[in-house]
Order: sequence, then C-alpha cells, then structure tokens
Amino acid sequence: MAVWNLGSVNADQVYRLPRPLEPGETMTADAFQRGLGGKGANMSVALARAGSVVHHIGAVGADGTWMRDRLAGYGVGVAHLVERGETSGHAIILLDTEGENRIVIWPAANHLIETGDLAAALGTAAPGDWVLCQNETNLQADFAHKAKARGLRVAYAAAPFDVEAAQAMLPHADLLVLNEVEAAQLETATGLSPEALPVAHVVVTLGARGCRWFDTVSGVSRDFPAPRVTVTDTTGAGDTFTGYLVGALDQGAGMGDALALALKAGAVMVTRLGTADVIPTRDEVEKFFL
Ligand code: ADP
Ligand code: NA
Repeated sequence: MAVWNLGSVNADQVYRLPRPLEPGETMTADAFQRGLGGKGANMSVALARAGSVVHHIGAVGADGTWMRDRLAGYGVGVAHLVERGETSGHAIILLDTEGENRIVIWPAANHLIETGDLAAALGTAAPGDWVLCQNETNLQADFAHKAKARGLRVAYAAAPFDVEAAQAMLPHADLLVLNEVEAAQLETATGLSPEALPVAHVVVTLGARGCRWFDTVSGVSRDFPAPRVTVTDTTGAGDTFTGYLVGALDQGAGMGDALALALKAGAVMVTRLGTADVIPTRDEVEKFFL
C-alpha cells in the first residue's frame, strides 16, 4: 500500500518582530528562521513518520532543492515532486510579542503542476492505494477524479477553506477531514451538515476536544476525546493528525484505531515548537503515552 499526496511545499520564513508592524513602517526583525512547511509537505512528513510509504506529488521552484532534499531525508518519495519556475511556494510569517501573527502565502510553483505530472504518478499507483489532497495546489479535483477511476481511495483535507474547491472535490472523496470552523463554513455555503455530505467518512477535528467521526452511510457518529497535554504550539497539529489518520488507514487499520493514533500524534505535536521538522515518529508517539 502507498499514499500519493498531491500537495503544497512551502518555505516558511518566520521573522520575530519586537512589536507589531505599523502601516508604512520598516522594521528589522529580532530573529529569523526558515523551515519546511505547506500543508502538503507537513502531511507527507506525517505519513512517513507514521510508517507509511508516501509519494509527494507537486512542484517546487529552482530555489526549492533544499525542501526536496529534506522531504527525501524524512523518507518521503520525491520522484514526482518536479521543478517548475524560479520560485517555490512560501509563507512570510511575522511573529510579534503580542502573539498576533501576520502571514502572507504565495503559492508560486504549487500552482504550476501539470496534468502530465498527475498522469505519471497515477500510472505507478495501485488500486487500493490512498490519494490525499488539500487546497494548496492546482488540479486536485482532476487528480481525485482520475484516482477514483483507477480504484484508489481519496482523502481530502478541505483547508484552507475554499467553497469551490470543496464542491469540486466532495464527489470524489471517500474521507473528508476538516476542523470545526471549516465544517461550519461548508455548512453555510452548501446547507449540508457533516452527516449529510456525499462522503462516506467525515472527520471534524475539535482541537483540544478531539474529533467527531461521521459514518454517513450508516448514519452513526462517534466522539473521540484528545489526550490531555501541555500546549506549546498548535502549528501543524491538524496536518499531523490527517497524515497519521490516512497513514494508519493505508496500513490497514480500522477507522477507530486510525483515529485514536491520529489523536495521539496530534497531541504530541502540540507539545512541540515548529512544523514539518518536528512531527513525531510513531515510536515517539507510542512512548509519549506509556
Ligand atoms: P486545525 O489545527 O487544523 O485548525 P484543530 O484545532 O481541530 O484543527 O486541531 C486538529 C487536531 O490536532 C485535533 O483533532 C487534535 O487531534 C490535535 N490538537 C489540537 N489542539 C490540541 C490540544 N490542545 N490538545 C490535544 N490535541 C490537540
Ligand atoms: Na507544534
């Protein structure tokens, strides 16, 4: 089994400022750090950390070789991560002492994926494999449609929320993962509550409260509490949760066991500062709760 993740790869450029930036103001930052980010890359790392075979499908720019190398170093398959254009997707993250972060994202290469890239990846995928998409690349609905037709299972993390993207993806998805805010946005836009969505399994994450799983075919929903931990940084917790969930399902776990593992991994992630680079391994997740 394997997971084919069509997703973003972003350079997270984090600047710590002494105070919030005013309009028209120029300020020298106190500190700078560059890390691997993007929902797609985060989920690929989480999948690899969960012990799954994962192939990342996407694009970086000529400046993105370090990100490709880092993904490969974490055990992510990068044969389908191509180079397009000069500039990789990136996020400019301004942290101020009041904790009010300001973030600008530029998709760049993440939106330069071509149909042929998807065909090349799907040509080597096997029926029963999972595909995973978020909302940070182009062509994901086309990819999900073709993957479904080839007998793959489709997981979709509807973030960042975009109603048109969601409506294009839902008919192809077997599993939808979204947070409470996204679930409310989707309900407002479509008039459909999670249990009424045309997707067999819907998982709504609830932060420190865990998650709710809707089995829309049998009409049953079940709540899963999150382990209690001391919160350091919630960045990347949702992506870790989703990567672990899809990874466990791909490795043959049932939904209940897969959700329990994903909740443990998400909880460990909130105890850590950082994103893709600090996603815990399965071993670290198991040991944390001994
Ligand atoms: P997102 O971070 O994507 O907005 P959530 O806030 O719902 O979504 O968090 C996603 C998942 O991360 C949760 O379902 C849970 O597994 C984990 N998580 C987030 N915050 C906490 C917390 N304070 N304690 C334990 N787990 C958490
Ligand atoms: Na974290």
